[in-house]
Amino acid sequence: MTHAFTRGLICLALCGFAGASISAESGHGEDKPADSDWVSQTTQTCASCHGKKGVAQTENFPTLAGQYQDYLLHSLKAYRDGERKNGIMAGQVQGMTDDQFKALARYYSKQESPLHTPSLD
Ligand code: HEC
Repeated sequence: MTHAFTRGLICLALCGFAGASISAESGHGEDKPADSDWVSQTTQTCASCHGKKGVAQTENFPTLAGQYQDYLLHSLKAYRDGERKNGIMAGQVQGMTDDQFKALARYYSKQESPLHTPSLD
């Protein structure tokens, strides 16, 4: 077992716990507006795996920062709707609305990033 992989497992255990406690307090529920407060609160949970502002610190998690907004939005919907199967991410996005996904996709796509994404304009 590699060191990075072990760290990933530890993070999964811890992050899963953190995610559960945060969602119990604030809720990802459909009643929450997708405003900047919601985004900054929610992305704290995402940061435990995807890194601060979406730049992942280990190879176990994808970098979200600077990724195409459409791609992020598509992925989030696919996890929620079961088209893209991943137990961890399905749990993260359960109960979120399309508006909330749009706000998250917009946020991450605009962060500074090591990814190279050619402009489509
Ligand atoms: C417990 C760890 C963990 C947390 C917390 C987490 N993710 Fe993820 N995320 C993953 C893993 C692992 C993958 C890769 C899954 C796969 O192979 O499809 C992933 C994949 C993704 C992808 C697809 C990226 C790509 O390049 O295809 C998006 C988008 C994403 N996560 C967004 C989020 C958002 C937004 C949050 C917070 C609401 C979040 N994640 C919270 C672990 C996590």
